[in-house]
Amino acid sequence: MIRERYFEVGGQRTRFLEAGNGWPVLLIHAFPLNADMWRPQLERVPDGWRFIAPDLRGFGPNPRQDPPAALTLDDYARDLGLLLDELHIDDLVIGGLSMGGYVTFALFRQSPERFTGMLLADTRSQADTAEGRAARAKMRDLLAEHGPSAIADQMLPKLLSARSRAERPALVRETRRMIESNPAAAIDGALGAMMERPDSTGDLAHIPCPALVIVGEHDEVTPQADAERMRGEIPRSLLTVIPGAGHLSNLERPDEFSRALHDFLVAHM
Ligand code: MLT
Repeated sequence: MIRERYFEVGGQRTRFLEAGNGWPVLLIHAFPLNADMWRPQLERVPDGWRFIAPDLRGFGPNPRQDPPAALTLDDYARDLGLLLDELHIDDLVIGGLSMGGYVTFALFRQSPERFTGMLLADTRSQADTAEGRAARAKMRDLLAEHGPSAIADQMLPKLLSARSRAERPALVRETRRMIESNPAAAIDGALGAMMERPDSTGDLAHIPCPALVIVGEHDEVTPQADAERMRGEIPRSLLTVIPGAGHLSNLERPDEFSRALHDFLVAHM
């Protein structure tokens, strides 16, 4: 059963979802989604584990927060540190998908001692290129003019594989619903945070814990080459490619994604 709970960060009420009991795993969501994207994994928590999926600041379906001011990925990471402190969790497996991976790197730089394991799904260690930053600036303009549904129009073809888009209308609808349920201010804050993020490639060789790298076979946002680079640099890492999936591999192939995560937890933790 998935439990919905709340925590306070900077006086703001922020949601997190959790399921299971036992050793904790923190799952950080992608852009421009929210904690709901982890529901397929929260519905499949292995015995002896507890999965925790927070909304990043400002995200989520019923936020009562003020719009976030200029944010960095370090701010998101600090928020998650506060959540872990509130839950009295000292160390755990921490990971995320795409932007969730960028936040994972920020949290690792802030508190490496928290990590007993790391999950890096459909993400990359590199910073944005100049071209990437320019595209994000344009996306901010689009958002300001037309709101989250225009972001959904632009992002859906990148997030889901062509096959998922053609054959899984319910998944397309649900992904769009998640994007549109987020306030424009949260989406804008994340765009600003991602475009200013540092390059994390130099940190990879210093990650001491076991790390699972996952990538969808057809991921066009953070392709297999990015995953292979992380696998090559992180000393105790392994790579799983999810056949048939695009960028949102955990939503497109939930059984395969969850199996890879469970196998990793059982074998390496
Ligand atoms: C995500 O899925 O979090 C984003 O596509 C990542 C990005 O835009 O770099």
